[in-house]
Amino acid sequence: MPIAITRAVSRAIARCELTHIDRVSIDVASARAQHAAYEAALASSGYEIRCLPEEADLPDSVFVEDTAVILPDAAIITRPGAESRRRETASVAAALEGLRPLLHVEEPGTLDGGDVLLLDREIAVGRTGRSNAEGIAQLRRMVAPFGFAVREIPVAGALHLKTAVTRVAERVLLVNPRWVDHRVHFADWIVIHVDEAEPFAANALWIERAGEVIHSASFPLTAARLSCAGIRVHPVVADELGKAEGGVTCCSLLLE
Ligand code: GLY
Repeated sequence: MPIAITRAVSRAIARCELTHIDRVSIDVASARAQHAAYEAALASSGYEIRCLPEEADLPDSVFVEDTAVILPDAAIITRPGAESRRRETASVAAALEGLRPLLHVEEPGTLDGGDVLLLDREIAVGRTGRSNAEGIAQLRRMVAPFGFAVREIPVAGALHLKTAVTRVAERVLLVNPRWVDHRVHFADWIVIHVDEAEPFAANALWIERAGEVIHSASFPLTAARLSCAGIRVHPVVADELGKAEGGVTCCSLLLE
């Protein structure tokens, strides 16, 4: 059975890292309720949910995506770019023990899983404030034996590559063209632009097994564009964790 690793929302979420948005009050109970609905969406697509316990002193720890990169035959434990997030990886590595052979990004490399976009045998990696050249070089060396090539993508104005672009179907990407130049970097792909009124809408979680994408209900104009393109949208209310600069890809690690 496929597995989704998640983690309970920390009671300290209000002290999360913020880079491109202003701090506003976050309601922990509401964030937890929305997170439970997100897990239910994954469960309805066939995933066994393995929810790690809350980390009360790690504010961003619900965003497990940043702590690992899951490949079919290995998992890479990252070294997150934000110092406050580095202690998140140990418990994720423990959860992945026995599920995949583990490899580790080492100092001085930094890499956030939110910058890592798997595209068949190619991995696009955002060069951002979180993922440095050394981290990307280490990833390139680690994945080469598994048949993956790594391509570095400049990202301007967004926290992570997957804030700016995600895959929503076999040959289709959802893109905010202000933050990533898809004409240069993803020229071979069919591209759907987010609605200009919804800059954060490019973060969608493609569930290939279910033939749908999980997408924040905060972005109905972009969802309509996806629907028009024949892509089935599974909306989830996710605005509370959006205030912590997290999107729908950020809250799970999926193992097929
Ligand atoms: N608050 C999400 C992050 O900055 O990592």
